[in-house]
Amino acid sequence: MSKIFVDACFGKETPYTPVWMMRQAGRYLPQYMEVRAQAGDFLSLCHDPKKACEVTLQPVDIVGVDAAILFSDILVIPDEMGMDLEFIKGEGPKFNDPIKSEADLNRLLGGEEAASRLTYVYDTIKLIKEQLADDKALIGFCGAPWTLATYMIEGEGTKTYNICKKMMYSDPELLHKILAKVTEVVKLYMQKQIEAGIDVVQIFDSWAAAIEPSKYDEFSWKYMVEIADYLKAKYPHIPIIMFPKGIPAFLDKVYGNFEVFGVDWSTPMALAREKLGEKYILQGNMEPCRLYSKEATTECVETLQNIMGGKRHIFNLGHGILPDVPVENAKHFIAECHRVSKK
Ligand code: CP3
Repeated sequence: MSKIFVDACFGKETPYTPVWMMRQAGRYLPQYMEVRAQAGDFLSLCHDPKKACEVTLQPVDIVGVDAAILFSDILVIPDEMGMDLEFIKGEGPKFNDPIKSEADLNRLLGGEEAASRLTYVYDTIKLIKEQLADDKALIGFCGAPWTLATYMIEGEGTKTYNICKKMMYSDPELLHKILAKVTEVVKLYMQKQIEAGIDVVQIFDSWAAAIEPSKYDEFSWKYMVEIADYLKAKYPHIPIIMFPKGIPAFLDKVYGNFEVFGVDWSTPMALAREKLGEKYILQGNMEPCRLYSKEATTECVETLQNIMGGKRHIFNLGHGILPDVPVENAKHFIAECHRVSKK
């Protein structure tokens, strides 16, 4: 059976414009909180294919999205390269042993050695595919090497990125060695996700905006394109979504062999359409906080529909859904996207 979501990624006619939400399998759903409580901590949930499968499927059943996104985290990569990942309640992810030198980098596992340790992710994908309806797509994902490197170098989330930017300007060779090693792992990781059954790839560059526009290609985009080229050469039928968050100044320079460009909420959709709409399908981009109000949601969905004309578009939020959004409002967003775009 053809999947509306995959057809839309390739620019084919679909009966309506498909929609999913970044972070759709998460804390705003009471059903997620229940499974999360049984699992204990967040990483144990990622390591348990049965439970990870269950929470992946929840938003498909509960809010009616057209695609499921694999439940995992971008940081399982550095974890399996040998860094010690912890999720601290109320603080977020933490590595106690950030990379400070080439010797630290050399201690980490690379390529196949690291990618083959992520069996729990591949097992989760296989379970999901057994249970997901044939007309729904499963999105697999990874972090962009730059976004992963920010955590590997800083050891945690950061507001200033001063440690990795110090490396960018004072020891760019070391930063490139880190990015190249992560890129090799991510290529094989995504290849294994595809072999396990995902239908679509999304690459998240959540911290793209930390890099000045003139350096963005050198330190992030070219590595994302390298991953896309590697996957496209082997799996041309698997669409790739690139999501670099917050880089309107780079829109003119976007290049690469992929299908969908994810537009974040700070970039006007009309601008993205003008710059990229002919080359790529555009995904996005409602401000996630509009979900607090049904009226504000409807207004945005209608505006997006007017701008895109129901063509070469996938509805989504312009970043992740927040934990205190009422489920009813999330359902309203999905229903409105389907209503305004139905042909
Ligand atoms: O539906 C989905 O999208 C679920 C799968 C998913 C998670 N993380 C689960 C998660 C995906 C695609 C991610 C990607 C991810 N992880 C990104 C890129 C996307 C983005 O939002 O920008 C980033 C930067 C991370 C790193 C990360 N993971 C952070 C900074 C945090 C803490 C933030 C927070 O809200 O607590 C996480 C934890 C995390 N990853 C949670 C979930 C559901 C919350 C953990 C919990 O249940 O307590």
